[in-house]
Amino acid sequence: MHLHLRDGEMLKLAAPHSAADFAGAVVMPNLVPPVNSAETMAAYRSRIADAAGTFAKDFSPLMTVFLQKQSYEELENLKTAPGFFAMKLYPAGATTNSDGGVRDFGEAEETLRAMEELGIPLLVHGESNGFVMDRETEFLPVYRNLAIRFPKLKICMEHISTAAALPLLGEFENLFATVTLHHLLYTLDDLAGGLLNPHFFCKPIVKRPEDRAALREAVFGGNAKIMFGSDSAPHPVSKKECAGAFGGIYSAPVLLPALAELFEKNNALGMLNDFLGGNARRIYDLPKATKKIVLEKKTQRVPEIYCGADTETRVVPMLAGKEIAWSVSER
Ligand code: DOR
Ligand code: ZN
Repeated sequence: MHLHLRDGEMLKLAAPHSAADFAGAVVMPNLVPPVNSAETMAAYRSRIADAAGTFAKDFSPLMTVFLQKQSYEELENLKTAPGFFAMKLYPAGATTNSDGGVRDFGEAEETLRAMEELGIPLLVHGESNGFVMDRETEFLPVYRNLAIRFPKLKICMEHISTAAALPLLGEFENLFATVTLHHLLYTLDDLAGGLLNPHFFCKPIVKRPEDRAALREAVFGGNAKIMFGSDSAPHPVSKKECAGAFGGIYSAPVLLPALAELFEKNNALGMLNDFLGGNARRIYDLPKATKKIVLEKKTQRVPEIYCGADTETRVVPMLAGKEIAWSVSER
């Protein structure tokens, strides 16, 4: 329910990885220039289908549009556009390519009101610029405010990363959340406990062990308001292993096997299907996926790097060089 596919050569490298294993994905619009209209969305959707190649036929990209100050008419038009799913709100400058985002929530008031009326979900990137560690805590009042002011709007907190965010789900009927695999696996120690490892650097930043434990408890306990959102976000190795490294973990190629391994270790395999799709289907009234894949308990080693068609498109995946106890054995 939250995926970065990029564009150009990177899209060609990344799209088949997701399209092979998944029936669909919510595609994030933070390109340069951003996907911010029905036209740019339709064009991007067709580039995704091209890049997914033979996997495109059973992969549905659920398209999102970058929330700026779209009018009621624009939203009405978007609502009927093929593949349109939701609007994505980025506070300006919060993450990769988000400079055109909203600076003050007041300026989005009319757009949000129109979305509420038209039944268009709002996906919120849950951070603002400022403090590193406490960003999410700082952002919680924003969610609370949105939930109160727009009670009929379905609002998703895109990948929560702290224990502090969880009570909001119980408090507001119209608030939902995605959780990534990396926030279930890693903490600040992985990122910077020893030598700094930029491959663990993502937004929101991985947090403390107690945050990870709370997220695990909620997910393995089957909280029906939490959906899996991979936030798989490829960056070329030249933009990760450098000063001024970009945030983003490229998890797409390992997601299903690594999730199976984690859920099995926690005696929660029975919860995996709902986390991956069932909860989202119920929350957003999505059609049931017909695609089937088989996960088998068979060890595999993750490649050290994936290389695209040009020298710049080289990406280090999550768990590079490591073994995973599960594999996708049939697609
Ligand atoms: O780590 C991240 N990378 N988090 C985001 O929200 C954006 C993403 C990206 O686009 O690189
Ligand atoms: Zn993201």
